[in-house]
Amino acid sequence: MSSNTREIVASAPGKVNLHLGVGNARADGYHELVTVFQAVERRERVRIVVEDEAACVESGSVVVGMQTHFHVDVPDEDIDTPRNLTWRAVDAVVDAVRARSGVQGLSLPKAKLVVDKHVFVAGGMAGGSADAAAGLVAANAYLERYCGERLSEEDLYDLAVGLGADVPFALHGHTALGTGRGDALVEVLGRGTYWWVFCNPKIGISTGKAFETLDDLRHDNPALVPHLDTAALSQALVTGDPRELAKHLHNDLEAAAVAMRPRIAALITRIESETELVARAIVSGSGPTIAALCFDEDAARTLETVLRDSVEGVEVFCTSGPSAGAQLEA
Ligand code: C5P
Repeated sequence: MSSNTREIVASAPGKVNLHLGVGNARADGYHELVTVFQAVERRERVRIVVEDEAACVESGSVVVGMQTHFHVDVPDEDIDTPRNLTWRAVDAVVDAVRARSGVQGLSLPKAKLVVDKHVFVAGGMAGGSADAAAGLVAANAYLERYCGERLSEEDLYDLAVGLGADVPFALHGHTALGTGRGDALVEVLGRGTYWWVFCNPKIGISTGKAFETLDDLRHDNPALVPHLDTAALSQALVTGDPRELAKHLHNDLEAAAVAMRPRIAALITRIESETELVARAIVSGSGPTIAALCFDEDAARTLETVLRDSVEGVEVFCTSGPSAGAQLEA
């Protein structure tokens, strides 16, 4: 890094859905959800790097390139493109400030994006959404530094909604109830820290396909009703006891994930066989990652090692929740 290089750094959390209730399909292609998210300490970091403050652009994207450093397995496809949600998030903030200030040719320095990826790619933990949320926060600080303007929290939330259903929660963090597409959020009270092990069998599931599969399964099996009541889960969260929480974890999409990738069911059984360590294992979001709620930190660290050593073809890490939403880093 040269002495002239300036960096703005933000981070945002991955998530697990403690409850994921899927209701009807809507006209816009999304499903009505009743979900309780918990943000976890496994955080994505996004850096906006300005190498030369004098090299400016007056229109179009300020982003001249992007590089992802993977601390998880590298996906097959190149994700360092303008279609990446991080890149789109930065463009969205810049465009919104340009539109609002009405300044044609607002001069801003060119920037590179560097993403440190700690959350599985396409794993059901909203890693891409966390990148976007961190990108929104970093871009807001970049604008404040270089043109003295920034968007309000509400404006950032509106941009988050436009980027994806899970992006608002990655901005918000902690534990929250999501309704609508999962993006209308209300804080949920909770106590204590929960220890999780996330195990990704790397058998990619497209989120859209998982929702479609659930619709098909429900067509043939009326027992697969939507679970839209989170009252018991909310009460369990106040106890701070993983055993209580474990009883009320639920994911309607699990049936779809298991139908699409039967190995997931076997893995859940394998993980739950560690009865001294694990209170419950469920599919995280649309999968394929499995989230194992452990009795405490020691149990989670032991399970992480046990799974790494004994299960083929999986990626594993241990972390805790809840965690804060997207924020600037020193
Ligand atoms: O918002 P995001 O791009 O992450 O969603 C991916 C896909 O998942 C959507 O295109 C939609 O098919 C499905 N989805 C859904 N209902 C939701 C969230 C996502 O059907 N509430």
